[in-house]
Amino acid sequence: MTDTRDDKVTIPALLARKTAGPKIVCLTAYDYPTAKLLDEGGVDLILVGDSLGMVVLGYENTVPVTMDEMIHHTRAVSRGVRRALVVGDMPYFSFHLSPDETIRNASRFLKEGGAAAVKIEGASPKRLKLVRDMVEAEIPVMGHVGLTPQSIHHLGRFRVKGTRADEARRIVDDALGLEKAGVFAVVLESVPVEVAAEVTRTIKVPTIGIGAGPACDGQVLVFHDVMGFTTGYMPKFVRKYADIYAVMSGAVAAY
Ligand code: KIV
Repeated sequence: MTDTRDDKVTIPALLARKTAGPKIVCLTAYDYPTAKLLDEGGVDLILVGDSLGMVVLGYENTVPVTMDEMIHHTRAVSRGVRRALVVGDMPYFSFHLSPDETIRNASRFLKEGGAAAVKIEGASPKRLKLVRDMVEAEIPVMGHVGLTPQSIHHLGRFRVKGTRADEARRIVDDALGLEKAGVFAVVLESVPVEVAAEVTRTIKVPTIGIGAGPACDGQVLVFHDVMGFTTGYMPKFVRKYADIYAVMSGAVAAY
């Protein structure tokens, strides 16, 4: 049944936050108890990110994550959420073969996963066409530019994008292309503060920054990084709010 609570976070409500504020609060979650905790804590947007692969499933990067893994975790997250908007992340190779397969995979997040929207990395002309196709199929889409972790084998390593003038221009153009294609928000990952500010001024939909400075319309971080529960790669920009790993190790030892 559709949730008709007045405080339910909807896409029109998020769009309005661009001008009316307050800033959009976003974190990742991959399971029921975490989603419930974040929802009860007032987080607006819960992203079931493919970072799942690195922080929960123990893969080296996000490339191996499958659609079935994403749907399994999105279903768990949705069961814990009453208010927040749940967004499912399109994993690597879920949108590379054909528009039909892309729409079918994206629709699974809504029909099976209980999400309200999907996120897709990149803004090549082909990718923008896929965004238009998904929006046309009533699937709300969030874009993602700057550092796109699914491109790890092209990039060689995770690094800041947009430090060169041509790269910075490209990020602004990519965000504009995504806006025109119909996204309701754009994630800006690992881009210089000034570039994020320029994108935020230029596009009319909210920007959600991760390692992109304070000018964005909202912020997202990986839950396990923020809580000090990440054991592998940890981006430099992350601010840790707790040391859960130490707390849990202590508890295990005490037990
Ligand atoms: O997979 C993920 O968690 C993400 C966010 C870091 C934006 O894409």
